[in-house]
Amino acid sequence: MSRTLPPRISFVCLALVALAGALASPTLALSQDRIGHAQSATAHDGMVVAQEGRAARIGVDILKKGGNAVDAAVAVGFALAVTYPRAGNLGGGGFMVIHRSNGDNIAIDYRETAPQGINDKSFLDAQGNADPQKSRNSALAIGVPGTVAGLALAEQKYGSGRFTLADLMAPAIALARDGFAVTEQTTEPPPIDPLRLKRWPSAAKIFLKTDGAALAPGDRLVQADLAGSLEAVAKGGPRAFYDGPIAQKIAAAVQAAGGVMTADDLKSYRAVERAPVRGTYRGYDIISMPPPSSGGVELVEMLNILEGYDLAHDDQAQELFLLVEAMKRAYADRALYLGDPDEVNNPVARLTAKAYAAKWRAGIDPDHATPASAMRSGGMVEPEGRNTTHFSVVDRFGNAVSNTYTLNFSYGLGLVAAGTGILLNNELDDFAAKPDTPNAYGLIGFDANAPGPGKRPLSSMTPTIVLKDGKPFLVTGSPGGSRITTAVLQVIVDVIDRGMDIADAVSAPRIHDQWVPDQVFVEPGLPDKVLAALQARGDKIVAQRPFTSANSIESTPDGLVGAADPREGGALAAGY
Ligand code: DON
Repeated sequence: MSRTLPPRISFVCLALVALAGALASPTLALSQDRIGHAQSATAHDGMVVAQEGRAARIGVDILKKGGNAVDAAVAVGFALAVTYPRAGNLGGGGFMVIHRSNGDNIAIDYRETAPQGINDKSFLDAQGNADPQKSRNSALAIGVPGTVAGLALAEQKYGSGRFTLADLMAPAIALARDGFAVTEQTTEPPPIDPLRLKRWPSAAKIFLKTDGAALAPGDRLVQADLAGSLEAVAKGGPRAFYDGPIAQKIAAAVQAAGGVMTADDLKSYRAVERAPVRGTYRGYDIISMPPPSSGGVELVEMLNILEGYDLAHDDQAQELFLLVEAMKRAYADRALYLGDPDEVNNPVARLTAKAYAAKWRAGIDPDHATPASAMRSGGMVEPEGRNTTHFSVVDRFGNAVSNTYTLNFSYGLGLVAAGTGILLNNELDDFAAKPDTPNAYGLIGFDANAPGPGKRPLSSMTPTIVLKDGKPFLVTGSPGGSRITTAVLQVIVDVIDRGMDIADAVSAPRIHDQWVPDQVFVEPGLPDKVLAALQARGDKIVAQRPFTSANSIESTPDGLVGAADPREGGALAAGY
């Protein structure tokens, strides 16, 4: 059951996928987009890798002042909301995975929730078909933002106690109030985003020039309203965001734009601490994000399948073939089984069991690709979606933070709640608007991920920490919608199995298969003979421009090595 991504999505990632999809030859005609090499840094006492340099340096500064990784991550999270507005946010949500030096592992779920007025018909048209306009481009798509609650919870429970929230937010407030010169990476290349922003005067006034053009490198981005919102939170804590004038302005803006969010929806929002998904891989411990992300479950499932093979010695074509086989099996399980853990019973233990992986592995033919249609519901032995941003932090005390957060599309819906400076997400497209109908990332889902009041849509974000002998070894994660989890998988396999250092692993061309469509997306840079070997086994190769960005840290005997993914530009690894 081959499926193509839906047309006319004004979203750069998807435009790139569509472009790539139009290229029939496995010999990639995209050599101009060859991936560069990761900027990397080595340091002994602390490391931050983030998609924007000012934010990364703010994190390092907190570490230098004696802060722990959580303090630094919270400061980076608020800073990116100012310096990297297409994905850093207050009006979106995300996930933070923390490893503490005392051995505790924590997952903080600050995913957006659907307003009470959303139900399983909300994103359908009059004929009962999924209506992408509603789920991607209308105010119905806006989930109740979780970022402020999540960052504040992390700080309150796991910060060092040496800083107040206001201390950690101060650099972000100054950057919003005083402004800063934008770079090519801060803004999105025209013409895609101006179109999304232009329809909302409250957004256009901040992010576009008076003639409607995107800000050009060197232009100053001043966000006075955002500075005001940040100051209110710095003074009053998260309740100042969820219960008071900011919440009222957000609800009013959403409703004026045709959405259903109320001030009560904001008032009742809670970030939730959850048990991380755990796995092991060749003696390492995997700590990752549980539902409402599919990421951790899929990652552990894929690693479990792959553990049965000798990836270190396989030739590259065979290695990639096996990765693809593992990917489609895990993505099929995602579609069928996973959803908001407060609403559905996710079979996490079963899907992440070694024995379950062994059964999947038994059906893998090393010479022939398994068609996606062969692993639909019940195909198993037992029945039963660059506009996100990831940063990694390690401190000198042995704590690590892996954080991915998002507005979904670049600048989210593009709507700024007037008077707040806060861009609002369109995260609710991550629900399965209708069973078996793809979202913007081509991901399908069923009842487990149906839209409903208060529900959290299933995510692919996969902030992950790999431990070696109980200590942080790798901290990784990525944006990229459905491609996130397979990017994280390849960073881990490239380091552990293929012996790459973190900068090489982060830079290496990636492949991706998400079960539906039955295609293997490949980035530029893989040898033609490898692609030909995959095709010979039955894989359908589709060229794809790079758009994940796995800003990662590896702990080595020589110190902490940070690697800033070269794909998007602008990312920085900085340490001390
Ligand atoms: O939560 C998710 O899985 C998506 N909303 C993430 C979106 C994303 O990574 C956009 N970047 N290409």
